[in-house]
Amino acid sequence: MAVNETDRRTEPVQVETRTSRGARLTDGSQASPRALGPQGPPKGLVDASHASPSGTETLIRLSGVDIHYGKTHAVRDVSLPVARNRITAMIGPSGCGKSTVLRSINRMNDLIPGAKVTGEITYHGKDIYGPGVDPIAVRRYIGMVFQKANPFPKSIYDNVAYGLRINGMTDGLADRVERALRGAALWDEVKDNLKKSALALSGGQQQRLCIARAIAVEPEVLLMDEPCSALDPIATARIEALMNELVEDYTIVIVTHNMQQAARVSDATAFYSADVDGAGERYGFLVEFDDTQRLFSNPSDPRTEDYITGRFG
Ligand SMILES: Nc1ncnc2c1ncn2[C@@H]1O[C@H](COP(=O)(O)OP(=O)(O)OP(=O)(O)O)[C@@H](O)[C@H]1O
Ligand SMILES: [Mg+2]
Repeated sequence: MAVNETDRRTEPVQVETRTSRGARLTDGSQASPRALGPQGPPKGLVDASHASPSGTETLIRLSGVDIHYGKTHAVRDVSLPVARNRITAMIGPSGCGKSTVLRSINRMNDLIPGAKVTGEITYHGKDIYGPGVDPIAVRRYIGMVFQKANPFPKSIYDNVAYGLRINGMTDGLADRVERALRGAALWDEVKDNLKKSALALSGGQQQRLCIARAIAVEPEVLLMDEPCSALDPIATARIEALMNELVEDYTIVIVTHNMQQAARVSDATAFYSADVDGAGERYGFLVEFDDTQRLFSNPSDPRTEDYITGRFG
């Protein structure tokens, strides 16, 4: 049964809210043209044969992913699907490789000297590390929002316009900027001060500006690495509400240390942990991946249970 929108907002947030939202997305109409950008992902990034009629289409799939930093084998053998128009959370103790895995999804690790990703990560069925794939094109469609809001020392307007100009999306620039700021729930607070320095905004506003900057170029996926960790509870609640709206158009992967947040916002959760191998080397690995509700209520691995009940470390 459909859950009334108003009721959902007034009740304590339950994992259940994700389920009810998901129910509205199973009609196969989730591929909004806006989320795909004006032209959709470039041909080189799409394997059309991968199209799926299901409302829970896998948009991104990690298969046997290993990540090295130089000789350090930091993350081992991660496999998981990322469902389209859903929020996937990644949780686990510090140093278990959450950011490392997240960065591999849009080839941000390419920018770290010595970082190497092996295994396969597909987006629309196409290996993003395959020959001929342009990492800049990957990042154009799989955007990222970082832990610490990092606006450029420019005006609010120019921050949002930045990626649009770089990508030649300057037709109707002002409209695009407004749409992105509205999408990030920031427009009403800044519309009379667009020329003001972005650095003069509050932390929560800066983070929403960074989300506006990321969505301005109309990506399909948003990767968010602890986007609320520097924010107070009110700003955090705003970002969570925003994610709940954005997921209608975007696929979101969020790393969070806050298990309540993972339970509140996500549809699926990946729990990572770290261990030490026979040679004394510490490495991160995926312990369990499941529907959020199931992972938090009935985890299948005792290590997950220890972590979510606070018995870990
Ligand atoms: N740029 C880097 N160069 C070398 N090693 C790195 C780099 N970034 C991360 N690592 C190593 O990879 C492992 C995983 O780190 P990562 O930052 O992905 O963990 P995390 O789960 O995101 O931790 P946290 O919760 O503290 O953010 C750690 O052992 C870390 O030292
Ligand atoms: Mg991290």
